[in-house]
Amino acid sequence: MELLTTRQALDQWVEDAYRAGHRVGFVPTMGALHAGHISLFQTARQGCDRVIGSIFVNPTQFGPNEDFQRYPRTLEQDQSLLEQAGCHALFLPAVVDIYPEGHQTRVQVGALAEDLCGRCRPGHFQGVATVVAILFNLVRPRVAYFGLKDYQQFLVIRRMVDDLAMPLKVVGLPTVREADGLAMSSRNRYLDEHARAQAAALFRALKRAQELYAAGEEDPAALEATARAVLTTAGITRIDYVAARDPETLAPMVQCKKNPVILIAAWVGSARLIDNRQLIRN
Ligand code: PAJ
Repeated sequence: MELLTTRQALDQWVEDAYRAGHRVGFVPTMGALHAGHISLFQTARQGCDRVIGSIFVNPTQFGPNEDFQRYPRTLEQDQSLLEQAGCHALFLPAVVDIYPEGHQTRVQVGALAEDLCGRCRPGHFQGVATVVAILFNLVRPRVAYFGLKDYQQFLVIRRMVDDLAMPLKVVGLPTVREADGLAMSSRNRYLDEHARAQAAALFRALKRAQELYAAGEEDPAALEATARAVLTTAGITRIDYVAARDPETLAPMVQCKKNPVILIAAWVGSARLIDNRQLIRN
């Protein structure tokens, strides 16, 4: 795997790949890689001739009181996981490669980015959309792979790509989970033993909502209340949201005729965890 630490090195790699007629697939990450990330790389390998990843802990998507400083950085381990996954190149930009002096343009996606995590983390999706747009322009991939674990992020990026006519395909892939259902996340490293046990309640909450929906419940408030009760019973009380929403627009629904997605954001110990599930009728 080639390590690309400057814009120039990246540019050369990208040029060579295109000159050789390769289809380039891209997986942007913030590192501290786990099996969820690796599944994106594996799928990229199946669909593309050349796969490139990036690791960049993007300062603009963290709020002033968030975990930018303590975000886990495990570069050596990340590199060996990516080698094993057959990744061809890894872009490791410095902050100045992404935001050179004088940088001032921001990408602001509309309504999709406003509610849920957008409301709890002001500026977060602007930071995400901006860095992903810059990375797309630098890497110029044909296909980019994202996890549906960050469901709102996936919709925001897909919207941006459509709205700005970016010439690539955005693929969303299923959430990879631990044995007890906890969605894999770099932030799971923040969980102590007690919090780790509590954290499995997010998955159980989604599962309860699924059972209720399959049994015929269409009232979003009832689905949300059931999921919320599972969290509070497990001792999770700092809940940012539990929301059953339209799976395309994330708008509230009066009645869940169309299969809703139920999304959760909650604090478990010192970690803010998110998870979601699209509800289906069996
Ligand atoms: P990060 O949290 O490192 O995630 C990188 C990619 O891995 C995202 O597309 C995310 O949805 C996916 N992912 C994370 N956990 C997953 C899981 N358990 N199963 C499947 N996919 C999973 O998301 C970001 O970084 C950043 O916001 C980024 C897009 C890189 C912009 O800075």
